[in-house]
Amino acid sequence: MTDASSPATATAHANIALIKYWGKADDELIIPVTSSLSLTLDALYTTTTVRFGIDGDADEATLDGEVVTGKAYNRIVDLLDLVRERAGITDRAEVVSVNTVPTAAGLASSASGFAALAGAAAAAAGLELSDRELSRLARRGSGSASRSIFGGLAVWHAGTDDDSSYAEPVADPTGLSGDLAMVVLVLDAGEKSVSSREGMRRTVQTSPDYRPWVEAHAGHLASAMEAVKNGDLERLGAVAEENAAGMHGTMASAVPPVEYVTDQSRAALAAVKTLREEGLPAWATMDAGPNVKVLTRASEAERVDARLREMLAEVAPQLGTVVAYSGPGLEITRPDTREAN
Ligand code: PMV
Repeated sequence: MTDASSPATATAHANIALIKYWGKADDELIIPVTSSLSLTLDALYTTTTVRFGIDGDADEATLDGEVVTGKAYNRIVDLLDLVRERAGITDRAEVVSVNTVPTAAGLASSASGFAALAGAAAAAAGLELSDRELSRLARRGSGSASRSIFGGLAVWHAGTDDDSSYAEPVADPTGLSGDLAMVVLVLDAGEKSVSSREGMRRTVQTSPDYRPWVEAHAGHLASAMEAVKNGDLERLGAVAEENAAGMHGTMASAVPPVEYVTDQSRAALAAVKTLREEGLPAWATMDAGPNVKVLTRASEAERVDARLREMLAEVAPQLGTVVAYSGPGLEITRPDTREAN
């Protein structure tokens, strides 16, 4: 028996796309223009507890102890509304979230955040959802969250409607995901100035490079999938870097340009190239923020991290790094239902 008033807690890990999602075919349902491929990371995650049936007529939400307001609050309520509708309840909820991901700095906090919220809210409302249904639900909060339901490598099929747009794990016959790592270069942990939502909309509507990127994208994804199948890190890294560079190219030619890449980002991208010339496996990707994520081999991750910190010490003295490996999928824990005093 499930009790709609008992809380549920979910932990979801951030994911970084190797082949990107950038642009929506349907803004309301969050159906993307392209499919995408990602790696879920162990070191970055969000833990969220949801409890329905609180007093009062509004949902309450905190993130890292701060009350959530404005647009971020509205997005949480929208997701809770979907859960309420499905569960046939009207109760207001309390949402308590703790993030190890710097929020809104292009470090995929919305991915882990909305995946954890979807998992905790569905469980707290007494819904028994499959991973695919959870992926579709998380997608409604933030597209990239659809992929954070799964550990390791995940593919989000763009689809054409709510039913057909979901993520699932990628077959990994050689165990490549276990050999992967990402060195996250945190150049700036502050909030980004342009949300991914706005950045994508502007890019799709105004960038002359957007359609050509979409046309190249199918080939990028096919090549990346083939690389995973063959356990070929070099090929995966090269196509991931090309796909991300192309995405940032589309942003640069949007009107007005969507500018996430800073001089420090450019210095980091150059350093990654130098590492490759030195013979280290290292490929760069970037999202909706200035931070650079470096795909590498797990066994080389510490070396890559140390070299990058050394090379960037002067140009980015504030640099913080996180070395992350392949992480797990969504975990839902049912409440401690023992007596509360
Ligand atoms: O789901 P959103 O709105 O956070 O979109 C994120 C898009 C990128 O991070 C830039 C790329 C991706 O596929 O995650």
